[in-house]
Amino acid sequence: MKGTIEEHAERFSEIAAEYDDDKTPEYEACAGLVVKRARPNGTDTVLDLGCGTGAIALALAEDAERVVGRDISEGMLAEARRKAEERGLGNVEFGEGEFREPNYDGPANVVTSNFALHHLSEAEKRETIETIAGLDGGQSPSRTSSVGPRRVVLGDVMFFGSPDPDEPFYSPEVDDPSTVGSLVEMFTSVGYAVTKVDRVHDQVGVITAERVLASGQE
Ligand SMILES: C[S@@+](CC[C@H](N)C(=O)[O-])C[C@H]1O[C@@H](n2cnc3c(N)ncnc32)[C@H](O)[C@@H]1O
Repeated sequence: MKGTIEEHAERFSEIAAEYDDDKTPEYEACAGLVVKRARPNGTDTVLDLGCGTGAIALALAEDAERVVGRDISEGMLAEARRKAEERGLGNVEFGEGEFREPNYDGPANVVTSNFALHHLSEAEKRETIETIAGLDGGQSPSRTSSVGPRRVVLGDVMFFGSPDPDEPFYSPEVDDPSTVGSLVEMFTSVGYAVTKVDRVHDQVGVITAERVLASGQE
């Protein structure tokens, strides 16, 4: 990670009130795809990591039983809570949590994250994906194992090819995006099958990963 967690948290808290006002078409497309690919059912709990002001968590609240958002920035979380209250959403909860220590030990059937993981280094992203895979995935009528969330949807800055150094879609001084190939390998190495990769831009994509169950497991 370029900079400390505290520095990232402060940077986002400073811009929290205006964060929603300035979005690129690529961000909008990516967020829309994360919501579409998450497909929670009415009994699912969704955990949204790096939730910011709640773009993904709030959009999924109507379809899921419960949505839990985690972020390191108090300012962003305060905005997310304000929006949930404004919309009368009682099944969404926002709180402090870091990617590798989400500060949540309940079930997470589906995990989402949008435009946030690129702040972490390659090794830290790998630790995050290992952490996600180790969460309690909850039970569902068709599934008796609770190891790992059933689905993980990651939308983010990621490289499909060599990024044009003159047109970075990210800020090299604070961001550290990975290649799509590297992220896919991180998921497959912890027991997930990558079932879809959406290319939004040559530096923005959405990876959908589903838990692979061992034979005999449901
Ligand atoms: C660009 S915003 C995206 C917010 C939201 N997911 C969205 O789609 O609008 C990135 C968010 O990641 C959070 N963040 C950065 N590093 C983090 C970390 N290590 N753990 C958890 N959240 C982090 C920031 O505080 C910020 O709210």
